[in-house]
Order: sequence, then C-alpha cells, then structure tokens
Amino acid sequence: MHSQELSKAVQFLSNDEVVCIPTETVYGLAANLFSEKAIEKIYAIKGRPRSNPLIVHIGRKDDLGALSKTVPAPLQRLIDAFWPGPLTILVDKSDKVPFSVTAGGSRVGVRMPNHPLTLSLLEQLPFPLVAPSANPYNAISPTTAKHVTDYFGSAIPLVVDGGPCQEGLESTVVGMENDKVIIYRQGMITAEQIQALIGPVEIKDEIVSKQVAPGMTLKHYSPKTPTLLCEKLDRFKHDHLNRAFVLFSKKDPSLPKEQQYLLSEKGDLKEAAARLYQLLHELDQKSYTQIVCKKLPDEGIGRAINDRLERAGGGIVSQ
Ligand code: TXA
Ligand code: MG
Repeated sequence: MHSQELSKAVQFLSNDEVVCIPTETVYGLAANLFSEKAIEKIYAIKGRPRSNPLIVHIGRKDDLGALSKTVPAPLQRLIDAFWPGPLTILVDKSDKVPFSVTAGGSRVGVRMPNHPLTLSLLEQLPFPLVAPSANPYNAISPTTAKHVTDYFGSAIPLVVDGGPCQEGLESTVVGMENDKVIIYRQGMITAEQIQALIGPVEIKDEIVSKQVAPGMTLKHYSPKTPTLLCEKLDRFKHDHLNRAFVLFSKKDPSLPKEQQYLLSEKGDLKEAAARLYQLLHELDQKSYTQIVCKKLPDEGIGRAINDRLERAGGGIVSQ
C-alpha cells in the first residue's frame, strides 16, 4: 500500500508536481529542489511571499556536502547529534542551490527529517526536496493528512499519509553569525539541548529580537478563530461565554470545566507539543468566538509552544 503511494510520489515529483509528505514535525508540501516550475507551485498554493525561503530535505547526512560550501564545526556537531530529526541548519549555499528557494539569500536551510516513509521516498529520488509546512500562509501547520486535505482539497495531486506527526511542532532553525550559534526559530530541539552540546547560543527569533506591536507582523501559525495567549486567566472568571481555554496540565476551578482543554494531563511538554496543533484544528471546527491559551512553563519545549501561541494571537497579554 505504502510502496504504491511512494512510487506515485516519485512520479509526481519527477514531473514538476508537488506532493504532500509526512515528517516527524508537521506535514510538508514538497517539490524537486531543481524544478523551478514545482517551486513556483509551492509558493502559489500556499499563498506565501517569495521573500520567505524554503527548507531543503535530504535523505542522508552526506547529501549536505553538495548543497553547502562548508559546514562549521558546531553545526556539524548538532547534525551528528540530532539528524535525522527536527533540526534545520542554515549554511552557505553551494552554486547548485537555486536562489528561488533561499529567497535570494546566500544561506540555505537544510534538514534530514525522521519519518520512515519520507526517508524511503528521499532514497528513491535523485534530487532533494524543498518542503515548507503544508498550510496556507499564516495558518496552523498540519499534523495529519486530513488537515492537509481540509486545507487544499484537490489542489495537491497526492498526500502521502504517514499518520499523525509524532513531534507535532516545527523544527528548530539554527545558523551561525560571527562564530556564534544562533537559534532563529525555537522548536522541538531545545536551546538547553543545543547548549549542552556546544555551549552558549543566542535566541534571535522575531519575537525576541523585534519590538513588534501585537497584531502586526508577528501574527503567524493562526487558527481562524481569534486566539489569545495570556499569563493568567483571572480576568475571564466572569467573562467566559463562548470561549475555549487551552491549558497545560490542570483545569482552572474558576472556569467552566467543559470549556477547558488540556494539552497534557500528566504535565509532559513533549506530549503537549504533539497535541497542540491537533487541538487548535479541532477547536477551530467548534463555534467558539475566541481561543484563550494560558502560557506554559517557559522552559525546554514549553518555550517553543509559547512562541507559537504568541504568534497565533499576535502577542501576549500579561494580565
Ligand atoms: O519542521 C519543519 O521545519 C517543517 C517540516 C515540513 O520540515 N517545515 C517548515 O517549513 O516548518 P516552513 O517553510 O514552514 O518554515 C521554515 C522556516 C521559515 O521560518 C523560514 O524563514 C526559515 O525556516 N528558513 C528556511 N530557509 C531559510 C534560509 N535560507 N534563511 C533563513 N531562514 C530560513
Ligand atoms: Mg510554516
């Protein structure tokens, strides 16, 4: 069953088509790195600005050599530790990598995903795949094949169903500036894990580095229902009508039980990450007028979850 689907995927991808592929983080909308036509389709289907570069996915660590000029030692150590896995590294691109996938920039983002179907697909292809998350620009990333078909219907000729994504949150994006390792997007590989291996790193994602007013360019990863991230839920005690509340592990006794949704009853941040997008997709199908999320512990994967929730609402409310 899967081998037939994979042969179909090979055919489509070899003929300038896009195919949706499963990864351990989220589903990706994939195309041949060397097909301008297919890359064009990705940007068009997602409605994504051309200024936003695409990640290249490879099936073997060795494939990085042809795509990059050099790989700095600290990034190589991270690759050795975390590939295949949810880590994207930014390296100086070789001439082989088209500027259309780097948005004109000199660096390319590369990762080796950890999903058996996609690794097997990559093994069968004579080219790497570019793949952004398979959602319309600014919407929540898909963590099941159904999320993808709900978004795009027949606009994508093939969705390879690899089951629900095990990790559920996008990869961590790292690169270097002046010999310093920088985290550009927090994700499933935590800053703590990276620091334990290679020493101090700087976090430089939009939220930390730019003073953006709530509701402006920060907004990303959003459900259709207006979403809000709050430090505390006190102010909703007498104002909870039609609101869904998303909390980490414990319900708030001052709010109606049936309007509260927990990410992990046992208080496990990894489980919370795996459940987050699925829950937001589900809540978007209900008739709530607002999704109110309570900030999770700001450590490890909790920081990546808070980052996504902050973007979903376009900011954070501290009261
Ligand atoms: O987990 C993931 O990374 C998923 C799965 C499908 O692999 N992909 C994903 O792709 O989240 P996307 O395109 O939705 O997010 C890629 C992020 C963007 O924030 C983009 O700006 C950054 O990585 N990025 C990619 N290439 C880059 C480059 N050359 N320079 C700077 N940032 C880059
Ligand atoms: Mg995305």
